[in-house]
Amino acid sequence: MEHKQLKSFPNNFLWGSASAAYQIEGAHDQDGKGPSVWDVYTKIPGTTFKETNGDVAVDHYNRYKEDVALMAEQGLKAYRFSIAWSRLFPDGRGEANEAGFQFYDDLIDELIKHNIEPVVTVYHWDVPQALMDAYGAWESREIIEDFNNYCTAIFKRYGDRVKYWVTLNEQNIFIGLGYRSGIHPPGVKDLKRMYQANHIANVANAKAIETFRGIVKDGKIGPSFAYSPVYPFDSKAENVIAAENAEEMNSHWWMDIYAWGHYPQVIWNYLEDEGLAPKVEAGDFELMQRAKPDFMGLNYYQTTTVKANPLDGVGETTMNTTGKKGSSKESGNPGLFKNVQNPYSETTDWDWTIDPEGLRIALRRIANRYQLPILITENGLGAFDTLEEGDIVNDDYRIDFLETHATAIQRAISDGVDVLGYCTWSFTDLLSWLNGYQKRYGFVYVNRDEDGPKDLRRIKKKSFYWYKEVIKANALIDRSSL
Ligand code: NOJ
Repeated sequence: MEHKQLKSFPNNFLWGSASAAYQIEGAHDQDGKGPSVWDVYTKIPGTTFKETNGDVAVDHYNRYKEDVALMAEQGLKAYRFSIAWSRLFPDGRGEANEAGFQFYDDLIDELIKHNIEPVVTVYHWDVPQALMDAYGAWESREIIEDFNNYCTAIFKRYGDRVKYWVTLNEQNIFIGLGYRSGIHPPGVKDLKRMYQANHIANVANAKAIETFRGIVKDGKIGPSFAYSPVYPFDSKAENVIAAENAEEMNSHWWMDIYAWGHYPQVIWNYLEDEGLAPKVEAGDFELMQRAKPDFMGLNYYQTTTVKANPLDGVGETTMNTTGKKGSSKESGNPGLFKNVQNPYSETTDWDWTIDPEGLRIALRRIANRYQLPILITENGLGAFDTLEEGDIVNDDYRIDFLETHATAIQRAISDGVDVLGYCTWSFTDLLSWLNGYQKRYGFVYVNRDEDGPKDLRRIKKKSFYWYKEVIKANALIDRSSL
């Protein structure tokens, strides 16, 4: 669809940016925080790039005022961050740690003081290690109650000031990488266990939303989903079927549950035949159907192109966590689909497909299928940045990336999609989970690397100034003045 003229971004559009506790806070054992699974997993040799971890990260816990001052200088309208469950409940349940609660009180107040809307993620992958030890975390239904108690505590404490809430961040990723490919904690490769843990997470998500309704009456809540729209490699029918398989298995499997409370039929049938379908208890579907989100949170980075894959075809392979372009291998799901390179798109150094118009496609597909508003909770470019003399970072490639994606959003808005806001990933540089510190996403460069925290100095990149002007104009700008 081509428009004679694009619609403007709405006046109250949330131009934002995002982060996650483990990736920025550091202070891993400060003021009574208990360990999360990531504190433990990253210490196992060979799990992360150059054995990096978030013990110090970018020390946001101790420097949050400086970081919020930078957000205010940029004019950010919204800031999405996550709460570390084990900072509030060191054992995951039971006794609360007041110092942890106080930290988020202070952060929220600091944001509000600067007119920045806090968007809080309840869970960004860091389940308390104590719950992993006690009952295997997401593999036991016991977590539903513990998660609900944690949610109740934070909804009550912060719900007066926080009106936008994200429940689970990228359930498809923490479950998929945790239990299918085994490269995130708990490092399991077992599909039966994966689908079961995923179902339990679905129930926990729904229960948290139901609880929210009774506590934060004027707030909005929804999950954040890592959606990578699927394209068939070409119009050959077998590749179109492969694309249907992938879209249903990789995306509808989660988003249908969030929006409608039921699993998609074809993949359910496939998993039943394979003996992999999750065990559902009485009342689960009813709860999931009742607990409707107010928006779909969208984390968009790339699209996926697929071809048919025979029963003895390619399966799981390794991921590029080093930044050596081209080092990831072909992967797939035998009998269903395999991922191939899109001949029309470039890739990043970590082999992620760069496809701005894919964001418009993602927005349209979600809006049409689920009739929900969408909050873009993540989108950004992971790249090597160079710190030049005089503390300068000329990240024009990041501006290109964000500008083309923001254009795609404006097109989607013009197509009629209700987009609440755009939180880029990320505000400062941060720990990129398995990829160390060299994969940078921020508007603000942090002077640290894999060898150590250095001085953790904050340096504004060129993209910082670009976004500042975009926010001010509430529109894409002429870049020549930068
Ligand atoms: C999605 C995750 O939510 C975030 O934590 C991660 O760092 C980015 N993707 C980039 O990989």
